[in-house]
Amino acid sequence: QATDHTPALVIGSGYGAAVTALRLGEAGVPTLVLEMGRLWDTPGSDGKLFCATGAPDHRSMWFRTRTEAPLAQFLWLDVVNRDISAYPGVLDRVRFDHMSVYVGRGVGGGSLVNGGMAVTPQRAYFSEVLPAVDAAAMYDTYFPRARQMLGVNTVNPAWFESTEWYRFTRISRKHADNTGLRTTFVPNVYDFGYMEREAAGQAVKSALAGEVIYGNNHGKRSLDRTYLAAALGTGNVTIETLHRARAIRRQPDGTYVVTADRIDPAGTVVATREIGCTRLFLGAGSLGTTELLLRARESGALPDLSADIGTGWGTNGNVMTARANHVWDTVGANQSTMPVMGIDDWSNTANPVFAEIAPLPMGFEHWISLYLAITRNPERGTFRYDAATDSARLDWTQAQSQVSVDAAKKLFDRINLRNATIYRYDLFGGNKTFADDFTYHPLGGCVLGRATDAYGRVRGAPGVYVTDGALVPGSIGVNPFVTITALAERNIERVLAED
Ligand code: FDA
Repeated sequence: QATDHTPALVIGSGYGAAVTALRLGEAGVPTLVLEMGRLWDTPGSDGKLFCATGAPDHRSMWFRTRTEAPLAQFLWLDVVNRDISAYPGVLDRVRFDHMSVYVGRGVGGGSLVNGGMAVTPQRAYFSEVLPAVDAAAMYDTYFPRARQMLGVNTVNPAWFESTEWYRFTRISRKHADNTGLRTTFVPNVYDFGYMEREAAGQAVKSALAGEVIYGNNHGKRSLDRTYLAAALGTGNVTIETLHRARAIRRQPDGTYVVTADRIDPAGTVVATREIGCTRLFLGAGSLGTTELLLRARESGALPDLSADIGTGWGTNGNVMTARANHVWDTVGANQSTMPVMGIDDWSNTANPVFAEIAPLPMGFEHWISLYLAITRNPERGTFRYDAATDSARLDWTQAQSQVSVDAAKKLFDRINLRNATIYRYDLFGGNKTFADDFTYHPLGGCVLGRATDAYGRVRGAPGVYVTDGALVPGSIGVNPFVTITALAERNIERVLAED
């Protein structure tokens, strides 16, 4: 029997969860949000909420004794990672065979650690990926709503052209131009007015101080400052942190009970709570939501869940690569961590790639152009429930990543050929020129219209909803959080109206 009861329970506090909590709260529905990470509101002994990227401490990663940064080396040297003490830090790297997934942990989920790039997908590709969703409603109503609520803005082009902080981007643009490739400005949720003040020495530096993957102390409009702040403001929403939802079961009366472990900062389970709810909204991200539903199905707690739970997962075709520039093409010691431009070759039907021009702020000149490429990789992974570890394991092979590498390589071979440049071998380990073993963009696992109906209602579990990136079938062609936010806006509007 549940000890607590709430009309609506939301698991997680990333994009899908935050939208859902706000709209439930506005509708007057008392809502409890459970987040396994901490609330990032109390400064450490250095007076800062988050630690510096270049000097990571316990706050950087989720229960690790050594950091696991995406770029592990420089000149083949293990100079990037640091020993730390275990703590509920803000960035997690979830390791599966042949694929690691980076995710944010804390109130705000991925918004605490991501690059803030707020990209609306190409309409034709959106319709291809999610054909059951009315694209007109998305592009007329829900994408604009999401962008407005997220506080999306764009770098001032005149400042961009003149500032030392985006020299690295202008160099990559020049090389794309030389190759006949189109580049495009990309909006962001980082406050560019704040960034200009940072550059002018009028504000404390954050994006201009290398901060991003372990959190931004200033400037970024993360969800705790937008959707979640508004949700709390309704007076109907409560957030409980350091609560990890573990199990879901259905009561004879059709309500649900969620078992959640409350952990302390050492990771010790200090209490186990049973929380009853009438409606359950899963926003634990592609990995978290899929694991909860897979476990519920395989343990027999929710036996009627669809066989599609755990399928349709993809990396959004993510692959990272770096080029070595000529000595005269300096990228600058000073680099903003917020990407503002992409090479947009998505309309090249023979090899569609959207490559974000990524910073590598090391504080010295390194002549490196870094990119996060999003490729159209049709490969999909499947999650299996592993009873021995009570967790979801991902079936994904290196060959499935190779598809992304091949597509990215075709584009960057062209750029290298035209500019007489080469790849860097020293950054990703094993002399690799492409980082094909991690993704920032996990998508799918509980795909819309398959594991759920067209609005995220979970098949076989009436009253349970998926709200997050698990709904998107493995690829969206651009950075995904605007899509996840807009879909969640669309789905909760329907659910509030009908359910
Ligand atoms: P999200 O992952 O945001 O939130 C899930 C939350 O649920 C987390 O807070 C987690 O701790 C919590 N949770 C999980 N399991 C739980 C459980 N069992 N119980 C309780 N809580 C649980 N995207 C983009 O559009 N532009 C960009 O620039 C970038 N850049 C980028 C950089 C980096 C380093 C990363 C890691 C990611 C990005 N992304 C990105 C991706 C983007 O952040 C991502 O797509 C979204 O955060 C996904 O939103 P969701 O709502 O699906 O879940």
